Amino acid sequence: MPKITFILNGREKSVDAEPDQTILEVAQANDIPMENACGGNGFCMTCKCHIRKGAENLSPLNEREEAMGVGGDERLGCQATLKGDVTVEPEAA
Ligand code: FES
Repeated sequence: MPKITFILNGREKSVDAEPDQTILEVAQANDIPMENACGGNGFCMTCKCHIRKGAENLSPLNEREEAMGVGGDERLGCQATLKGDVTVEPEAA
């Protein structure tokens, strides 16, 4: 079972997740604050996260993320799905 560690205001919180859930879905299921102005449709960037560990355990960048110019350690929380453990720091919470 994948695990996400969220970094929020410098503090870490780890929660269990199901494979292929998005980062945003896991955040919402665990009352982790994560902005999602477009409702998880990949158009607003408010769910943008910095991946601190485990980027290889996420789905590859998809077309929406590429269209929004996401790159480097950034991923959209509503688009990146889990394959294994990751540590993420939401940009806006
Ligand atoms: S919630 Fe809008 S891009 Fe992810």
